[in-house]
Formats: sequence, C-alpha cells, structure tokens
Amino acid sequence: MVIYFDNAATSYPKPPRVLQTMADFLQRCSANPGRGGHQMALEAGRMVLEVRDQICRFIGAGKPEEIIFTSSATEALNLALLGGLRPGDHLVITSMEHNAVARAAYYLKRTGVELGVVEADQWGMITPEDVARAIKKNTRMVAILHASNVTGGIMPIVEIGRMCRKAGIRFLVDASQTAGVVPVNVLQAEADMLAFPGHKGLYGPPGVGVLYLGPGIELEPRKYGGTGSQSENLEMPNIIPDRYEAGTLNTVGIAGLGAGIEFVRETGLEKIAAHERELTRHLMEEIEAISRINIYGPPDPEDRVGVVSFNIEGIDSSDVGLILDQVYGIAVRTGLHCAPLAHKTLGTLEQGLVRVSFSIFNTHEEVDQLISALYEIIREY
Ligand SMILES: Cc1ncc(COP(=O)(O)O)c(C=O)c1O
Repeated sequence: MVIYFDNAATSYPKPPRVLQTMADFLQRCSANPGRGGHQMALEAGRMVLEVRDQICRFIGAGKPEEIIFTSSATEALNLALLGGLRPGDHLVITSMEHNAVARAAYYLKRTGVELGVVEADQWGMITPEDVARAIKKNTRMVAILHASNVTGGIMPIVEIGRMCRKAGIRFLVDASQTAGVVPVNVLQAEADMLAFPGHKGLYGPPGVGVLYLGPGIELEPRKYGGTGSQSENLEMPNIIPDRYEAGTLNTVGIAGLGAGIEFVRETGLEKIAAHERELTRHLMEEIEAISRINIYGPPDPEDRVGVVSFNIEGIDSSDVGLILDQVYGIAVRTGLHCAPLAHKTLGTLEQGLVRVSFSIFNTHEEVDQLISALYEIIREY
C-alpha cells in the first residue's frame, strides 16, 4: 500500500460516496443539463443547481448564480484575470503565486497590463502592509493565494480584502489550498472573486473548478459557445452563470464534487483542519531536530495548512522523492510545484523542495514511517 502524501496536488483516496455518486449519475441520468426539456436533462439540471447552491452556502456567497463552474482552478483564475483586466490597468500579485496566476499575469503584462509583484518574506509570508505599498492609482485588481502550495503558509486575506474594498480595487483570492481545510467565506474576506478546484481539499474528482463572482463584477467571457439559453443570440448571454459557462458542463464531475463537499461538511472542517495540523506539527517537530534537514515556510504549524516542505542538505529534492517512492512506497511531490516565483523567494529554485501534504485519511503512523525513512536516507546518502 502506498503512503500518499501528495494531497496538495490532488487528494487521494476519494471518499467512497464520491465514487458512488459519480457512478450513479452516469448510469441513471447523464443527460445534458439545460440542453433539453426531457426528464433526464431536467434531472441533470437539478443536480447542477443543487451543487451550485451547496457551494454557494459553503463559501457564504449570496446567490447560486454567483458560482461559475470551470474545468479547473486554473481556468477559473484565468477567467478572473484575463476577463477582468485591460491594457493600462495595474495588477498586483505576490511572489508566492502558483503559475495559474503568475503565467496569466505575465501574459497580461505582454498585452499592456502593468504588473506589480509583492515580495514575500523569508518564510514566504505576505503582510497587508506589503500589499498596501504596491497599490497605485491605476491598480484594478489584487490577486493572492489564500495558502501557499509550497509552504502551506496561510495569508491574511481578510485584512487585504478589507483594504482592497476600501480602495475600490477588485480582490481575487486563489483558495486552491484552503477550500475544504480552512473556512473560506467570501463576505468576510470581502473577496470579489474566489477560485478553487474540486479535486484537492473538497475530495471531488479532477476536471471541475469554481469561480465565485461577486455581485456587480463583470468579466469578458473567455469561452464562447452553447449555453442552452438565448440560443438565437450570437453574443454570449448576459445572464450569469451562463455567460461564463459555454460548452457542456462536466456533470459527472460536478456530481462528485457535491458528494465531496457533503463529506467535508459531515466530517467537519474543524476536525479536518485539526487532524492535518496535528500531523503537520508532528512531522515538523520530529524532522527539525535532524541536522541535515531544513524546513521552509512559517515555523508555527498554526500558520499553515497541512503542508510541510523541506530539503536534505547534499541530496537533490527529486532524488529524495525518488527514493521515498521506490524504496519506501511513499508518494511526495518534489521540484518547483508550479511556483517558480515562490522558490526564488525561498532560495530553492536550484534544489527544489520535498513537499509532504496531508488529507483527513493520513495517519500518525504513516508520518512515523516517513520519519524513519528520512533517518535511513540521511544515514545512507
Ligand atoms: C495555489 C494553487 N493555485 C492554483 C492551482 C491550480 O489548480 P488546478 O491544477 O486544479 O487548476 C493549484 C494546484 O496545485 C494551486 O496549488
């Protein structure tokens, strides 16, 4: 049996109810919602609406229409960034962003959008004051991740959101590493837009992402096509969410995401967070005593989601990952984690990092096996 510590990439295993719900949906009514008036299409449409409503309540949004389904967090973030900025606008991101934001931002820079990158501190953390210093007269949007996928560090999004709201700047939150682990409330964070995938902390399948689009926020669509509504119109309809959801939705994935969210709700966010924090604390306490291991990110586990990234002096991170996988059957993620700006900030662009990331299904004993494996690797290499 593999010990799976790569939940920040995608969670595994999925709860049995997610598999069951997806199989049931495919077998029973996998018709195209919004594309027909027959019973099966209507039932598929009802399921999509129910999950939209479920997500709306889960993140404290006002109306289900504010929930846009995409194929991934990347697509949701691209829609928010590329659909919401014009040449001459100033965009602020941080040096901890995933490439889903960073690459979109650097593309926008080539089209005439001004780009400011706020540098994180040595722990990979950003303060509201850092963001405030980057704001200019033409700042149109601030985009920041809620927690880093490299260090796990949780960013002060409520304070940053308050500041953006006061200044009339759109605030985009990348909640890819927090949805399902840390309470995410769009009203409390004063987020105008918030993106997340279904396949990480929400235990859904890959292939579904979400963009929350706050009241009054209009974007240029990034996809054009059929919506099943206003089909006579050769422009995309103005009604949301249809305006941003061209093409057949991933209904089976949405059904699975609904079951994943239900699993999180029934298990309890607090319980999940406490469990992952306990594993994080245990691993950090045990390995920080090992002389050749350096841990990156905020020193206090309370400031993190369930992510611990480290290096062993003298061994490339990818070699450590390979040995853990092939000799010990332990799956971790190594390298740059699609976040080169973050690795530049932490000084790990050359060596990369070994990232361990937890889910509710990991156990204390599994962490102990990892710790023993690390002792052996250090002894032998
Ligand atoms: C912080 C962050 N943002 C965005 C993404 C992109 O998510 P997806 O690959 O589901 O589009 C990830 C995925 O690892 C992430 O960790």
